Amino acid sequence: MKYLRLMLVLGFAFTISVAGYSQAKYIGANGCKMCHNKPEKGAQYAQWQKSGHAQAYAKLDDAGKKNPECLKCHSTAGSVNKSLLATIKVEEGVSCESCHGPGSMYKTAAVMKNREQALAKGMVDPTEATCKACHLGKKPDGHKEAKKPWNFAEFSKAIAHPDPTLKK
Ligand code: HEC
Ligand code: HEC
Ligand code: HEC
Ligand code: HEC
Repeated sequence: MKYLRLMLVLGFAFTISVAGYSQAKYIGANGCKMCHNKPEKGAQYAQWQKSGHAQAYAKLDDAGKKNPECLKCHSTAGSVNKSLLATIKVEEGVSCESCHGPGSMYKTAAVMKNREQALAKGMVDPTEATCKACHLGKKPDGHKEAKKPWNFAEFSKAIAHPDPTLKK
């Protein structure tokens, strides 16, 4: 009897912990756009759309668009486990969350305004290693040569989208 009670208590605790467990998911660039497209704050969404990253999927040929080996570097949605996909679309190419982390848990205004909280809820500060995973990762045989050799400072500048109201 004692054991049965213990089992019930343990089982209940387990159920609660599973229900309370959540993992950050990928919401896609549209989920960031509403707050990050204001010109006075740097219009990160528009800046990203002008970059090659937004075209990384579109530029693949039909076979490439269906090939997971290509999608892992040419699409944020194609680079992560399917169980982590919320509203992101494969067509948006390499988008915000490849560099800033999956946004489902940090996307609220209250969390976003508090950097420590945002980091605790899955936001990532991108570093050179973030870029290298794709830029210097193993590409399939016959892959197009990079137009320029990798240079973090130069490449970062080419995709920069600073918020002039944030002081570092
Ligand atoms: C509800 C509005 C809102 C949404 C949605 C939102 N953000 Fe933010 N974000 C903010 C605010 C507010 C700040 C604080 C800075 C500021 O006031 O401009 C911020 C700051 C940031 C910063 C700078 C953090 C730092 O201090 O270095 C990054 C990076 C960022 N957001 C990325 C994203 C990404 C990626 C998404 C989508 C997955 C997203 N945000 C969605 C409102 C939002
Ligand atoms: C390890 C990551 C990685 C993989 C895997 C990968 N690519 Fe790429 N691909 C890149 C990067 C990074 C670039 C940009 C190169 C540069 O700096 O010019 C690129 C560029 C390209 C371009 C040139 C786009 C342009 O702007 O002209 C094509 C086409 C392309 N890749 C096709 C493919 C295909 C097809 C596959 C799958 C068979 C594939 N890639 C797999 C990382 C990758
Ligand atoms: C290829 C990687 C990459 C992509 C894609 C990307 N970012 Fe960034 N983002 C960066 C880097 C690198 C920084 C500079 C971080 C720093 O200065 O510490 C940055 C900075 C920011 C900042 C803070 C600006 C500041 O002045 O501190 C915001 C806000 C932001 N990104 C939002 C977005 C949003 C929204 C998207 C999608 C629409 C996006 N980013 C797409 C890499 C990326
Ligand atoms: C998920 C993979 C991935 C990550 C992460 C990534 N890139 Fe890229 N990047 C690509 C691919 C693929 C292309 C080629 C896109 C095209 O032209 O079709 C590219 C193209 C570029 C280009 C040339 C096109 C342009 O917009 O000028 C620059 C510069 C660049 N990336 C910088 C960066 C930097 C800096 C980082 C890190 C902060 C980074 N990338 C992170 C995959 C990635």
